[in-house]
Amino acid sequence: MKVPVKTIEWLGDRVRLIDQTRLPKEESYLELKDHRAVAAAIRDMQVRGAPAIGVAAAYGIALGALEINTSSRDEFLSRLEKVIETIAATRPTARNLFMAAERMKKAASAPGSVTALKKRLMAEAISIHAAEEAATREISRLGASLINKGDTVLTHCNAGPLATAGYGTALGIIIEAHRQGKGIRVLVDETRPRLQGARLTTWELKAAGVPFRLITDSMAGHFMQRGEVNCVIVGADRIARNGDTANKIGTYTVAVLAYAHQIPFYVAAPFTTFDRNIATGAEIPSEERCAGEVTRIEGQAIAPEGIEVCNPAFDVTPHKYITAIITERGIIREPFGEGIGEVQKIKKSR
Ligand code: MRU
Repeated sequence: MKVPVKTIEWLGDRVRLIDQTRLPKEESYLELKDHRAVAAAIRDMQVRGAPAIGVAAAYGIALGALEINTSSRDEFLSRLEKVIETIAATRPTARNLFMAAERMKKAASAPGSVTALKKRLMAEAISIHAAEEAATREISRLGASLINKGDTVLTHCNAGPLATAGYGTALGIIIEAHRQGKGIRVLVDETRPRLQGARLTTWELKAAGVPFRLITDSMAGHFMQRGEVNCVIVGADRIARNGDTANKIGTYTVAVLAYAHQIPFYVAAPFTTFDRNIATGAEIPSEERCAGEVTRIEGQAIAPEGIEVCNPAFDVTPHKYITAIITERGIIREPFGEGIGEVQKIKKSR
């Protein structure tokens, strides 16, 4: 397996990101030199997808540490705290962002001079990136075993290399199944309002040579009813202890449709997406984004000015609709609470 594009790269004193808002029209890269620029890139979704947000956040915190010009450890730590707050305030739902912030904070608590702490924080960010990449490779390998020869797989949003700074989760599995010669085909939901499916998933599948067809979100039920979907695979932004899963708005609708048609519905996510602090999906913080994402497409108005709009970025799929959760530590099935606890123990005892 080979990572298709370096979507996020640490360059020693800056971070290079592919600008996801410009795809598929243009493959352009941003070179960000300070933590505020990284925070803006996360907020504006130039970098998006839960694991990629976590990796960008870690590099943003490392850049913030490099910006602090003092030899006083106390002053360094108090200014670093503000950097972490700025990064953590960008987007509320993806657990990976907070996991990365917690790891960086812990790394900064080790003894040593300011110079040593800066080195340690850079090393920690690189290690967070490497761990996400390794996790997505394993998820792709494990998940491919669930896909049968000739299957048509439906996916929602984008959970490929762009979203993960690695091989992809849901899309990593699909690309790996294709690579294994399973002769699969993909139905890609366009994923309104930001069109991650139409813009990004199609771009990645095209590059990987996987046969696919793009559909509007409202077509998923039609294809399921006609028996043309064998399974659904999606990514996740945050998973509660009972398996309830937050993912891109529209995922819940797809899950209920799959359940009604007795089609397996798989969630693929690394352990950095699991939130041990929350019991059920009801506690997952949700993001409401601006009205313009709904009333405009590519800057063009598609609705009258000044109307009321709802724009929740995520929804929660209750675990009863989920057939299995594919993680780098194993495939978890009901009862999810027990399964999630068990694989967490496996890691601890390693
Ligand atoms: O708002 P986005 O584009 O960051 O939302 C992304 C998703 O919902 C993805 O499906 C999720 O982060 C999984 S990425 C492997």
